[in-house]
Amino acid sequence: MRVVILKNAAAVAQAAAEESIHRIGLADLNTPATPLEKPVVIGLATGGTPLGLYRAWIQAYQSGQISFANTMSFNLDEYVGLPPEDPRSYHAYMNENLFWHIDIPTGRSFIPRTNVSNLEESAADYEWKIEQAGGIDYQILGIGSDGHIGFNEMGSSLASRTRVKTLTKKTRLDNARYFDTLEAVPTMAITMGIGTIMNARSILLLATGAGKAKAIRDTVEGPVTAMVPASILQFHDDVTLMIDEEAAQDLSQREYYLESEANRRRIEQTN
Ligand code: GLP
Repeated sequence: MRVVILKNAAAVAQAAAEESIHRIGLADLNTPATPLEKPVVIGLATGGTPLGLYRAWIQAYQSGQISFANTMSFNLDEYVGLPPEDPRSYHAYMNENLFWHIDIPTGRSFIPRTNVSNLEESAADYEWKIEQAGGIDYQILGIGSDGHIGFNEMGSSLASRTRVKTLTKKTRLDNARYFDTLEAVPTMAITMGIGTIMNARSILLLATGAGKAKAIRDTVEGPVTAMVPASILQFHDDVTLMIDEEAAQDLSQREYYLESEANRRRIEQTN
């Protein structure tokens, strides 16, 4: 795992934007003269953490540096029980915070459909759509304070695919700030599975704030366990964590990660 420790949330957003623009190739995709046979598939996350990254993408798009015209996207998850037009749904979040401000083609951004009569069929169909798209090339992830990714709660099968999950009380409490009361927070969601996420070719996980310190320590330095779903990322061969000082505060090998990054920069400069 590559662990990049940065000063604060603003620095994480900036570094994440540079890294993802480079890795997805968003600047090259800007040239209309290069139509791709297959769009680049980006996996997207919601929550407070990726907002700075999305703002940086929007700015880079609006100033003509990048384009999403040759991409498509799949979101990690969506609450059950909120229609897409509900301002607290992840559909609304994505429209407001990203899709309305960039040039991702209409009909090429997918979010699990939860306002349907058959939730299991909808989840299976989502998994199939990801497969048909050729899998996810670049996945953005946040992390829950207990180490969950997407809505894969503690104890989720490490091989799981997109499905319906019941949310834990802790997750509902963490997300209650977006709702009037805890009772108003949905109790279920459709989420990509851990196996689905692990199939992404490359993963960028972002975490900021002291509230994520324990989850980050368990993810990077703890044993791989379904009780900390993000710890499975230790088995992925292309994962970068970009975290701020507060989220990094419990890492025992902090100095080593800083030194590794300094060496990486040195090597890049000499190439
Ligand atoms: C929810 C989402 C996750 C997200 C997590 C953390 O559980 N399903 O994808 O990573 O919240 O959110 P935040 O970034 O607001 O801390």
